[in-house]
Amino acid sequence: MKAGIFGANGRMGRVLIEAFHQSEQAELVAALVRSGSDWLGMDVGELAGIGRTGLTVSDRPDDRAGQVDVMIDFTLPQALKGNLDWCVAHGKPVVVGTTGLTLSQKSLLTTAAQSIPIVFAANYSVGVNLLLNLLKQTARVMGETADIEIWETHHRHKVDAPSGTAMAMGEAIADTLDWDLNQCAVYGREGHTGQRPQKQIGFATVRAGDVVGEHTALFADIGERLELTHKASSRLTFARGALRAALWVKDKPAGLYNMQQVLGLE
Ligand SMILES: NC(=O)c1ccc[n+]([C@@H]2O[C@H](COP(=O)([O-])OP(=O)(O)OC[C@H]3O[C@@H](n4cnc5c(N)ncnc54)[C@H](OP(=O)(O)O)[C@@H]3O)[C@@H](O)[C@H]2O)c1
Repeated sequence: MKAGIFGANGRMGRVLIEAFHQSEQAELVAALVRSGSDWLGMDVGELAGIGRTGLTVSDRPDDRAGQVDVMIDFTLPQALKGNLDWCVAHGKPVVVGTTGLTLSQKSLLTTAAQSIPIVFAANYSVGVNLLLNLLKQTARVMGETADIEIWETHHRHKVDAPSGTAMAMGEAIADTLDWDLNQCAVYGREGHTGQRPQKQIGFATVRAGDVVGEHTALFADIGERLELTHKASSRLTFARGALRAALWVKDKPAGLYNMQQVLGLE
């Protein structure tokens, strides 16, 4: 598989370069950055701190369109439309990892997926996707009586909150219980909050240091509580998952897929 990445100079872009370097099944043929970026022309291996590779950073995706089987996009929401438009115009499957999307940005994915195959996941780690499955199972057994809380910790540079993964956890639980997350979610508490209603999912966010990503869901009943926690210790876990998704999606028909489908969990 020959692939290209949007946002090659970002934190995720750099570990994606490293993941491609380690992969025997996937080759990086386009490392794209914003037009006029300071990183233009740099060797991608040097950008990722793994030594020279011979491929240079570019802002001209069209130059590589003929070689690319699939694109990977870990940028910021404001870049999504341009990246999707390019993939649709060139008929390229795409793996999207960008989080913090608004509802209208999510609808861009649905529209583009009418023409090209897209995998979208708020978290590409295998462990988090297993966690989403375990949350559905736990919600079925404990959700009608337990108090449910979700908290997450990320590094100081993260710009959206709660994390896309925390939201996906809330959605997995709410969907299982047939609750509307818009109605039952509470984002932080302060002051005289009154007693906690049972039909509520509380979210709490911590931003600190260089934490790659930690998520916990708590199901607290009378006399016992169950905590399900995932801790990511390296961004490589997301990059490897994205490569796995790219290999899976490259020959799929147009449509919007998720990581659960990539892993055969759904
Ligand atoms: N799904 C997952 O598993 C997962 C895991 C980790 C992170 N993420 C998400 O992935 C995204 C990237 O994370 P990160 O830590 O790599 O962020 P980052 O270090 O800030 O990198 C963002 C990248 O996007 C580019 N970019 C920003 N705005 C742009 C625009 N308007 N047009 C074109 N390019 C633009 C940046 O280019 P410049 O430097 O030129 O601005 C940079 O290359 C975030 O949404 C993050 O939450 C998802």
